[in-house]
Amino acid sequence: MWKKGFVVVELLLLMLVCSPVLLVVDGLRRDEYPPHFVFGASTSAYQVEGAADEDGRKPSIWDTFAHAGNANMYKGDGDIACDQYHKYKEDVQLMAKMGLDAYRFSISWSRLIPDGKGPINQKGLQYYNNLINELISHGIQAHVTLYHWDLPQTLEDEYGGWVNKKIVRDFTAFANVCFREFGDRVKHWTTINEGNVFSQGGYDIGFLPPQHCSPSSIFNCSKGNSSTEPYLVTHNMLLAHASAATLYRSKYQDKQHGFIGFNLLAFGFVPLTNTSEDIIAAQRAQDFFLGWFLSPFIFGDYPETMKKNVGSRLPIFTKSESNLVKGSIDFVGINFYYSYFVKDNPRSLYIKDRDYTADMAVELTAYTSEETSKDEAQIIPWTLEGLLDSLKNIYGDFPIYIHENGLQTHRNSSLEDWPRIKYLQEYIGSILDMLRNGHDIRGYFVWSFMDVFELLGGYESTFGLYYIDLNDPTLRRQPKLSSQWYSNFLNNRTMDPMVAMQIEKNALLHNAI
Ligand SMILES: *[C@@H]1O[C@H](CO)[C@@H](O)[C@H](O)[C@H]1NC(C)=O
Ligand SMILES: *[C@@H]1O[C@H](CO)[C@@H](O)[C@H](O)[C@H]1NC(C)=O
Ligand SMILES: *[C@@H]1O[C@H](CO)[C@@H](O)[C@H](O)[C@H]1NC(C)=O
Ligand SMILES: *[C@@H]1O[C@H](CO)[C@@H](O)[C@H](O)[C@H]1NC(C)=O
Ligand SMILES: *[C@@H]1O[C@H](CO)[C@@H](O)[C@H](O)[C@H]1NC(C)=O
Repeated sequence: MWKKGFVVVELLLLMLVCSPVLLVVDGLRRDEYPPHFVFGASTSAYQVEGAADEDGRKPSIWDTFAHAGNANMYKGDGDIACDQYHKYKEDVQLMAKMGLDAYRFSISWSRLIPDGKGPINQKGLQYYNNLINELISHGIQAHVTLYHWDLPQTLEDEYGGWVNKKIVRDFTAFANVCFREFGDRVKHWTTINEGNVFSQGGYDIGFLPPQHCSPSSIFNCSKGNSSTEPYLVTHNMLLAHASAATLYRSKYQDKQHGFIGFNLLAFGFVPLTNTSEDIIAAQRAQDFFLGWFLSPFIFGDYPETMKKNVGSRLPIFTKSESNLVKGSIDFVGINFYYSYFVKDNPRSLYIKDRDYTADMAVELTAYTSEETSKDEAQIIPWTLEGLLDSLKNIYGDFPIYIHENGLQTHRNSSLEDWPRIKYLQEYIGSILDMLRNGHDIRGYFVWSFMDVFELLGGYESTFGLYYIDLNDPTLRRQPKLSSQWYSNFLNNRTMDPMVAMQIEKNALLHNAI
């Protein structure tokens, strides 16, 4: 059985390598999506640029964290990463060849404004102008994130970064430079990437920079308070976003005709049982992860469930703050990878000095089921649609970009990445159903364009459409089969039903080997 499966796969791969056009897209056609729907791929500055101390860039909290050993979770740093700083032309060519409508990337704050405030680094400015021009000249939209967790270290040292309200002023000034310098060509701005994970990882659990947490956390933070800081930091992120958005709308939007939004990591939250306790707990988990931001954006205040469980530790919006934050998004970017079972956990409310995670009063376990027990564990698009339905019920309609979606594999796994093809095919296909069911999704981005320095896993964990052998000094981008598959889809190549069946079979065979 083992041998037979292997031979069939080898044969098929041989066929595919010899005639790539055979690698087609099962039942999916690009032209079935709305004409303005954008398909793209994502990265972020620290994860791909490299050139960490070149041309005037100064360290961010990520350089500090990586050089101090990544909290012993993994090895590596972004000193070189994919060297996109030097290879952006080559990368944009690959994107154009692939047929991407858009590239989602972020601006390194400390490359553009090395001390976080004050003088602009002309070489940094030149780099982003070059990258944006290269994209535009190839017909690729630039979807830009201003803050992908890489605060200039100077601001962390000077006043504690995001725990201090001073960040609102400095972030807005940074955003102003970006709107002014790039806004004639950039029409899609995301202020902050995964604000919810930045708060929880950086200020509650402490496994992400700037590594703040209470002494009770298993991570050895030298400062912080997990009961209060996550809430303070989120409050300041909301104000910083709203301040930048207000500036954009009053000074630039009329002329530049762009959009400004915020990004969150989302999960499907599935009640572990059908008891009302677990159903309510699943809703509460969603309130804590997503409502924490969405409720202020839509209604101008935090969710009731959070007010109840967090009490006086949850900052209170003044009337003017509430007015500033409410309505400050043109779209929401959602990163979606996997889902959780949620079980009610009322006992965690009795923990002394409880943190954000305990305030949620839930127990989360990875979603698994009979049909998803192997490699394909994460292919459960119905949980994404369930999430969108729930958000629509609570917050009404708002434009959504799926900013990240993709499958994690080990760096040294095969270039013939059938499980990734299957993952992308199922999610992209399900997006079409969601559009038909009335969800206002404007675009979809694969995470990640290539294998990057993963912020939650270093170089061992990869999601890329292109592989990079780190031992190869040229860091040559090598296409995985998934890049060919995506390209065929984006170029509206027609489907051969026989081969489509083989994709399905091969994904299964591959998992069995
Ligand atoms: C965190 O701050 C709260 C409120 O100021 C205080 O009661 C608590 O003791 C602090 N916790 C730690 C671990 O410092
Ligand atoms: C925290 O410190 C202890 C004792 O020095 C060490 O054993 C442990 O690995 C550290 N934990 C992390 C996450 O660095
Ligand atoms: C809960 O109820 C739904 C709908 O009736 C059903 O599909 C699901 O299997 C049930 N879940 C559990 C864990 O019993
Ligand atoms: C991948 O394989 C290369 C070459 O065999 C090896 O040097 C490297 O350590 C491997 N990487 C991981 C993450 O296992
Ligand atoms: C895409 O492919 C379909 C099926 O072959 C074809 O009917 C359609 O005209 C193509 N659309 C575009 C925009 O090329």
